Amino acid sequence: SERIKIKALLQTTPAEQEVNVKGWVRTFRNNQFIALNDGSTNSNIQIVVDFQNTDEALLKRITTGAALSVTGILVASLGKGQAVDVKATSIEILGDSDPEKYPLQPKKHSLEFLREIAHLRFRTNTFGAIFRVRNSLSFAVHQFFQEKGFVYLHTPVITASDAEGAGEAFKVTNLDLNNLPRTESGEIDYKQDFFGRATNLTVSGQLEGELGAMALSDIYTFGPTFRAENSNTTRHLAEFWMIEPEMAFYDLADNMDLAEGLLKYVINYALEHNAEDIEFLTQRLLEEEKSKPQQERSEMTLLEKLQFCLNNDFERLTYTQAIEILKDSTPNKKKKFQYLIEGWGADLQSEHERYLVEKHFKKPVILTDYPKEIKSFYMRQNDDGKTVAAMDILFPGIGEIVGGSQREERLERLEQRMDEIGIPKDELWWYLDTRRFGGCPHAGFGLGFERLVLFVTGMGNIRDVIPFPRFPKNAEF
Ligand code: 4AD
Ligand code: MG
Repeated sequence: SERIKIKALLQTTPAEQEVNVKGWVRTFRNNQFIALNDGSTNSNIQIVVDFQNTDEALLKRITTGAALSVTGILVASLGKGQAVDVKATSIEILGDSDPEKYPLQPKKHSLEFLREIAHLRFRTNTFGAIFRVRNSLSFAVHQFFQEKGFVYLHTPVITASDAEGAGEAFKVTNLDLNNLPRTESGEIDYKQDFFGRATNLTVSGQLEGELGAMALSDIYTFGPTFRAENSNTTRHLAEFWMIEPEMAFYDLADNMDLAEGLLKYVINYALEHNAEDIEFLTQRLLEEEKSKPQQERSEMTLLEKLQFCLNNDFERLTYTQAIEILKDSTPNKKKKFQYLIEGWGADLQSEHERYLVEKHFKKPVILTDYPKEIKSFYMRQNDDGKTVAAMDILFPGIGEIVGGSQREERLERLEQRMDEIGIPKDELWWYLDTRRFGGCPHAGFGLGFERLVLFVTGMGNIRDVIPFPRFPKNAEF
C-alpha cells in the first residue's frame, strides 16, 4: 500500500485496513513497541511488533534513529496515548543507526548541545515544532501580501551598496586573497574583480524594493540578508531572513497599519494551522520556566501571549513621548535609566525597549518620529527639522521586530541629508533617479523573520529558530 504520513494516519478511523508508514525510530520498548516519527507531527505512531515471529537479527536493527518502512494493519490502540496503532506485518530497515554512536538518545538534551549537532536536531520534538511553525509563518507572509495584490520582488544578494550605511556588509570578491591586485597608490584594484568594482552581500533589499514600488505600486521582498555586526547575542544573526514591503502612496500611518496587520495575520495563521505545535511549545516553556525564580517567570503562557497580541491594538507613541516615560521610570529599586536622564537624542537600548513593552504598556508598542541622527539617510524628514518619519515595532521578549519609515521622496532634502552624512550621491544615482522621474510619497518596513519565529515559538535564542544559524565563529553546518 501507498505510504501515509503519520499526521494523517492518526486522524484515520481504523477499519482493519493495510497501511504503510515510513519514518525514524524514536524508541523501541520490550522488543514489541516502536515509536515511529516522520516529522509530519510531533506525535509518534506506535508500531506493534509480533516479536515471536520476527527474525532476531531484524529486531536488533530496530534502534533509535534507524529509518524504517513498516506495512501493517491499522487497529484501535491498546495503549492510552493514542487512538490507533499499526500491527506490523512487514518491517524493512531502510537505514541502520548504530545505537552506540547515535548522539540523540531518547532523553532530554540541552539546547546548547543540540546546537552542536544542528544536522540532527530536526529529529527532536522541539525542533520539529519550531520548523513546522517557521514554515507556516513564511507561507502566511506570502498569503497576506498576495491577497493584497503585492508583487513578490527578488532583490539581489550581491550588491554594490550598503542600504543601511552602517558599514556592516560582508565583502564579496573573486580576487585571489593571497595575491590581491593593487593600484599604483597601493589600494586593492577592484577593477580587476569579477564585477569590476567592490561588492558585498546585501544588508537589505530596501533600495531596490523602492525602485520596484515606483512602478508596481506595492512590492515585498522575502530573502536572506547579511550583517557582519557583532551578532553574539540571542537576538542577532549574521545571516537572517527579512520581509521588506515597499508601498507607493503610503504615509507613516498607512505603514504602521500594514505592519500591525501583517503581524496579526501571520500569528493568527500559525495559531490556526499549528495548534498542536504551539501547544507543545507552550508546555516546553512552562517546563523551562519552572527552574526560574517566581518573579522572572512570565505572567502569561506562550499561547496567552500570542492571543493577547492578536486581540489588542499596538500602543503607538513618539520617541519623544517614550523618552519622557523612561526618564521618569525606575526599572528596579536602585537605578534609573542613567543615559536617558541626559535626555533627548540617545538611541534606545534593548533594556529601554523591553521596559516600555513588558513593564509599562504590557503590549506591543510602535515608536515613531525618532531623531534623524540615529536613523538612516532615506527616512522622510519631519517639519520640526529634528526628527524623521520612522517607526519601530517593539515586541515583548524580543525588542525591535520591525524597523521602517516613510521615505524621503523630495530630491533636494534627500541630497542634502546624504551630503550631511557623507553618503556618495554618484554611487546611488539610480536611487536618486526615482526622485527625479515621478517620485511620490512612499513607505516601507523590514520585518526580521527570525525575530518573528522567536516570538511565536517562545524560544529564547535566535540561533534555535533558523535551521543553520550563522554567527561569529560558527559556520560548521
Ligand atoms: O532595522 P533594520 O536594520 O532596517 C532595515 O534594514 C530597513 N532597510 C528595513 C526597511 O525599512 N525596509 O532591520 C529590520 C529588521 C529589524 O527590526 C530586526 O527585526 C531585523 O530586521 N534584524 C535582524 N534580525 C536578526 N539578526 C540581525 N542581525 C538583525 N538585524 C536586523
Ligand atoms: Mg532598526
